[in-house]
Amino acid sequence: MGKNKNTRASFGGKLSVILVAAGSAIGLGALWRFPYVAGENGGAAFLLVFLLSVLVVGIPAMLAEFAVGRYTKKNAVGAFRTLSKRWSWLGYSGVLGALLISGYYYLIAGWSLEYFVSSVTGKLFSSNQLFDAQFASFEKSWRPLIYGIVFVLMTHLIVARGVGKGIEKASKVMMPALFVILVVMAVRVAFMPGAVEGYKFFLSCDFEKAFSADTIMKAMGQAFFSLSVGMGCMVTYASYFKKNNNVISTSFNVSILTILVSVLAGLVIFPAVFSAGLKPTEGPSLVFVTLPEIFKGMPLDALWASIFFMLVILASLTSTISFHEVLTAYFREEFSLTRKKGAMLTTAVSILLSTITYFKVFGIDFSKCYDYITANILMPLGGMFTCIFVVWFMKKDFMKDELTNSGVCNRYLAPLVIFMLRYVTPLIILYIFVKNLL
Ligand code: PHE
Repeated sequence: MGKNKNTRASFGGKLSVILVAAGSAIGLGALWRFPYVAGENGGAAFLLVFLLSVLVVGIPAMLAEFAVGRYTKKNAVGAFRTLSKRWSWLGYSGVLGALLISGYYYLIAGWSLEYFVSSVTGKLFSSNQLFDAQFASFEKSWRPLIYGIVFVLMTHLIVARGVGKGIEKASKVMMPALFVILVVMAVRVAFMPGAVEGYKFFLSCDFEKAFSADTIMKAMGQAFFSLSVGMGCMVTYASYFKKNNNVISTSFNVSILTILVSVLAGLVIFPAVFSAGLKPTEGPSLVFVTLPEIFKGMPLDALWASIFFMLVILASLTSTISFHEVLTAYFREEFSLTRKKGAMLTTAVSILLSTITYFKVFGIDFSKCYDYITANILMPLGGMFTCIFVVWFMKKDFMKDELTNSGVCNRYLAPLVIFMLRYVTPLIILYIFVKNLL
């Protein structure tokens, strides 16, 4: 990463761009949040609306962010300010989003560190406590905070190394590993007794439930959260894209990979949940409490569990680096700091916020609040305003030029995307929002 804007770094080729952006998208959102929110909201019904949300709102909003970031080559705040002073608040709302996510994501990611360590050491399966009791006593101990901080520091090490050496390299190794492990797990789970009930829950749809305002709102929130859209993250990453990158194909690839991992996670977790006679509505601890139950009694239980939690760690890490980078790029460029100092400041703030969340200061469950505010309010609204901004407030051909690389590609798709951005996506977001308030 260069020290000034003239030598600003960029990601390598097409595949790197997809892997890095997919690395941001795929994380706890797909592996932890998707299964438990889907479990609480009717399984298949939720999946269907989630898919629609990705297509109709997620992809267009991601493209709007790509355009803003790649055109300006700046951090979220700098990017919006460069295009229009009056819209720089949209960049700040992104920075706020990254702060709120930092306030709880590291802690949850830290859970997977705990589970990985206790799988490797064999403690997870040799303890005579039940898994939910183990989880409860872990939650009460200091370890969630310690592991959360360890996770911040791991993220720091990668981000401080910079865009090419750190972020890109990490994603290139971690993303393919993730797919392989997940497919192996899905195959393994299919042979468990009672798995069929899980497939039924996850794949047969109750349409009435699917199209209730509440389900739609949550599925849309999940789409934004999982695609890392609506809080400046894709703006920041796109600022490292090369000018000839085909943004439409990148956004499709990223979305398809995210959907694939979410669905695979569902195909691993729901059959497993039913096979063990558990409930899919367990909530945030779903993955952590139910999966060890499944591994237990399998040959090589500790090995399987270690592999699975390793996967969760890797996927979370490629996501934490992305919102860490939103803040690092902001501090670095807006306050003229070096990358190292910007990263250090971000790390310090992240540790502070995680600590406040851990101690439940004033008795507040910050995790829940932050998650709700970011996924269900800030990101959908951020995404909506970004769409509105790029098609109604920028010069006429801005989006067309960005989507077609000034007429080189996507000549037929671009008008469709612009139509969506103008008339469909923002209106749908607004409608769902208002409907949910009433
Ligand atoms: N998309 C990430 C996940 O699913 C979370 C994230 C949200 C990352 C917003 C960056 C920005 O885990």
